[in-house]
Amino acid sequence: MAKTSSFFLLLAVLIATRGDAQWSQEERDRINKLNQEDHQLMMQLLGLTEIRPGPSGNPQAPNAANTDESKATPYTSLPDPLLFNNGTPVKTAAQWEKRKLEIFEDFDREIYGRVPPNTPAVAWEVVSVKDTMNGDFSVKTSQLIGHVDHAAYPAITVDIEMTLTLPQKISKPVPVIMEFGWNFPMRWRPPQQEGPTWQQQVLNKGWGYAILVPTSIQADHGAGLCEGIIGLVNKGQPRRLDDWGALRAWAWGASRAMDYFATNPDVDETRIVIEGLSRYGKAAIVTLAYEPRIAIGLIGSSGAGGAKILRRLLGEQVENLAASGEYHWFAPNFIKYAGPLTAMDLPVDAHQLVALCAPRPVFISVGSPDVEGQWVDAKGMFLAGVHAGPVYELLGAKGLATDIFPPQETSLIDGEIAFRQHAGGHTVGPNWPTFLQFAERYFQ
Ligand code: GCU
Repeated sequence: MAKTSSFFLLLAVLIATRGDAQWSQEERDRINKLNQEDHQLMMQLLGLTEIRPGPSGNPQAPNAANTDESKATPYTSLPDPLLFNNGTPVKTAAQWEKRKLEIFEDFDREIYGRVPPNTPAVAWEVVSVKDTMNGDFSVKTSQLIGHVDHAAYPAITVDIEMTLTLPQKISKPVPVIMEFGWNFPMRWRPPQQEGPTWQQQVLNKGWGYAILVPTSIQADHGAGLCEGIIGLVNKGQPRRLDDWGALRAWAWGASRAMDYFATNPDVDETRIVIEGLSRYGKAAIVTLAYEPRIAIGLIGSSGAGGAKILRRLLGEQVENLAASGEYHWFAPNFIKYAGPLTAMDLPVDAHQLVALCAPRPVFISVGSPDVEGQWVDAKGMFLAGVHAGPVYELLGAKGLATDIFPPQETSLIDGEIAFRQHAGGHTVGPNWPTFLQFAERYFQ
């Protein structure tokens, strides 16, 4: 229990500071005010006067989110990825290409929002290159900035920050693991595990890694929606109801990083992994779904809005995602599913997001409910993997070997959809060795 509550404490700190401990109280008040105003404005545009509040992530709270599996399945069926909207079945890979467009359209309009057609160009600059060591490995680390063209609206500047680390000795272009990097509060670092870090495990394979800073693309709060890449394209104006949210903006940034990788002769741009945890796990699955050039996804504890079935009544709910603290991740249209509509009215659910990644390998990672808590809904993510299976199989790939939720630390990695629940907390940490074993099958 102590561990569970420390997880929530940590989350509270991360959310309160939103990664920027240097903000003064005044700055935080200003951001909160703008955030509330934008959320209110979106509700107004949707004709909503109130929405249902979500349950609490604190298991001790009187309105704690459900953790009882017997109450988790209020639905009798999920939208079928292999049925066209008009009811005809999808039987061939060619038909799936068409069906995919319907599913993308639903996710675009109702959940993640549309990326505008006129996003500006990005010019990558290598700011510095340093020869250094990571543990026992000699590496070359480049600091990069992706300058977004803002000629159309010079009042907003967007400079995408990324660090790329490659092994010193390279005989041919190497795979790269791209992570959506957390910007932790000053002096705070996530608890270190024993043994090599994930970066060292990656270097040990002879591969490289890149850390992309999502908040340099789009701020992680509603107050920032008139700035960042979303604000730049909208020339500082508030969003339309089907405009993109931060998840798609972060994914757009990852696509621009892909453009850069294609120009770097040391990087094999056909062997790039996207990885992220929590909100950045959501961003990672959205990236994999929307960016066909990415080879593999490692989706860490993504929970609701990521790989978790939204119709499930366990852990975080649509009502939480639609509230003022998280709505900015999504299209404004998504707010209406917290009233009058419900999750049951969504035209698509998370298994279809996983299906959009098919047939590319995707690894769904989660921690132990005793340590991580149940907010992320491990089984809800497993089920999204299960129900994406038929699409993978239609395309000649393999889904999960079972539809029975496996015991902790079972590695389901034989197919292209992989799942593993490790024994630790809200981290990808203990799953890295299993993931790298899985990825190696495709990269060697
Ligand atoms: C909160 C939020 C989750 C999110 C997490 C995080 O817990 O409810 O949806 O994944 O923060 O990103 O840290």
